Amino acid sequence: MSGLDFDEETSRRVEATYLTPDVVWQRKVVREALALRPGERVLDIGSGPGFLAVEMSDEVGPDGAVCGIDPAPSMLAIAADRSGHAVEYRQAGAERIPYRDGTFDAVVSTQVFEYLPDVPGALAEVRRVLRSGGRLVLVDTDWDSIVWRSPDDALTDRVLTAFEQHLADARLPRKLPAALVAAGFRDVRTSVVPMLNVGYSPATYSAGLLELVTAFVVGRNGITAAEAAAWAEGQRSLGADHFFSLNRYLFVATG
Ligand SMILES: C[S@@+](CC[C@H](N)C(=O)[O-])C[C@H]1O[C@@H](n2cnc3c(N)ncnc32)[C@H](O)[C@@H]1O
Repeated sequence: MSGLDFDEETSRRVEATYLTPDVVWQRKVVREALALRPGERVLDIGSGPGFLAVEMSDEVGPDGAVCGIDPAPSMLAIAADRSGHAVEYRQAGAERIPYRDGTFDAVVSTQVFEYLPDVPGALAEVRRVLRSGGRLVLVDTDWDSIVWRSPDDALTDRVLTAFEQHLADARLPRKLPAALVAAGFRDVRTSVVPMLNVGYSPATYSAGLLELVTAFVVGRNGITAAEAAAWAEGQRSLGADHFFSLNRYLFVATG
């Protein structure tokens, strides 16, 4: 078995993590990069719990439109509860976007492309639904960038290697500039969006990630439930000495 099943339990874990100030700040960076204007039409691919979509609906206003697609019914249900009628959600994946050519002024997708087996195919779909001159903003993590202090480095290595199985490509960002150009995008700009947590606190990205990792890795890479629980407890027990850093990369391109 591989991949992360965005069922009810996992979707709720993701939702809780995305309420932390770290991820709230990431969304602010994404919205600044998108620079939406009132009246624009924007698509969020892999809209997840729908926080970004709701924020974008305030920016485009009543004359604009925000559409979200996601293949996971649990995510769509959580997102629909959050947005009322402010966002149009459809169950679909990036492989086949259910909108006509040139529908959108902007397309955004955060923490989704690293899950996709066919990134060139998805980029071609994005280009198709984006109007000529429209903007694309992508955010993905390079999991080689992780720095996580641990009382047991060998166990942490095994756990994080197992966690990479939840993705199609744990090192996608370094390939995206070339992939965007190959897909026909221009003016590609790249910046880094760091996550940094010094000192353990439940209201941080790393504390949420700890829960997601612990739930996912049991039975993978030979990791038992007891080892996963011990690993999580070890990370928490560092308290003020907890140190976590991870880089996400943000790409802006013109279609
Ligand atoms: C880590 S979550 C990110 C959610 C959201 N973009 C955010 O940043 O708040 C990954 C999301 O990608 C969705 N996803 C997985 N496979 C997908 C695909 N093939 N096409 C579009 N979305 C997909 C999942 O259902 C999940 O909602």
